[in-house]
Amino acid sequence: MQVASIIPSSRALIRRVAKKIDFTEPRIIAEFGPGEGCHTRELVRRMHPDSQLLLFELDAELAGHLRAQFAGDERVAVFHADAADLPQVLLKRGLNECDYVLSGIPFSILPVARKRELLQRVYDCLTPQYHAALLIYQVTNELVGHCRHFPRIESEYCLQNIPPMFVTKFYKTANGNPRTHRI
Ligand SMILES: C[S@@+](CC[C@H](N)C(=O)[O-])C[C@H]1O[C@@H](n2cnc3c(N)ncnc32)[C@H](O)[C@@H]1O
Repeated sequence: MQVASIIPSSRALIRRVAKKIDFTEPRIIAEFGPGEGCHTRELVRRMHPDSQLLLFELDAELAGHLRAQFAGDERVAVFHADAADLPQVLLKRGLNECDYVLSGIPFSILPVARKRELLQRVYDCLTPQYHAALLIYQVTNELVGHCRHFPRIESEYCLQNIPPMFVTKFYKTANGNPRTHRI
């Protein structure tokens, strides 16, 4: 139930997701449910040297595997923690906000109240800049109905994955300075 999938994301899906992040500047990125790290490796490959990537993985074994995998990269920190701990983890690291949250957790099976609470926390933690966004890849696009507080939403369907997935970007702001928006 927690993992919700036995097949990791495809290369095509990983690229589609990564293309939605502006890596041209240092970014604070949180990833929820990295699993064995298939999206993480792409983020790490593209990330600016001064970026930070915070990984939240509930499964102890997977968290240990991620720690070993990214031990040589100071930009990456692994937390064997619930995604809902994002505000506390940011605070502990002396950060007030982040630029992107990439979520691979099975949001659709969360009880509605928990889902909405987590989405509100993510919204509150995102920096109020044009590029900042929550990115999700999911079989259904049901989250759109719970994300009314995100003023801009973009969605596309990725057929090259088993199963096909919606890739949806929920932006923090309605508008602003689009100069940093280069996807
Ligand atoms: C479907 S797998 C995704 C794995 C990988 N990101 C991929 O694309 O193949 C979901 C992952 O989310 C983790 N997970 C589920 N709920 C979580 C939560 N509340 N906080 C952090 N991780 C969670 C699971 O342990 C699992 O590793």
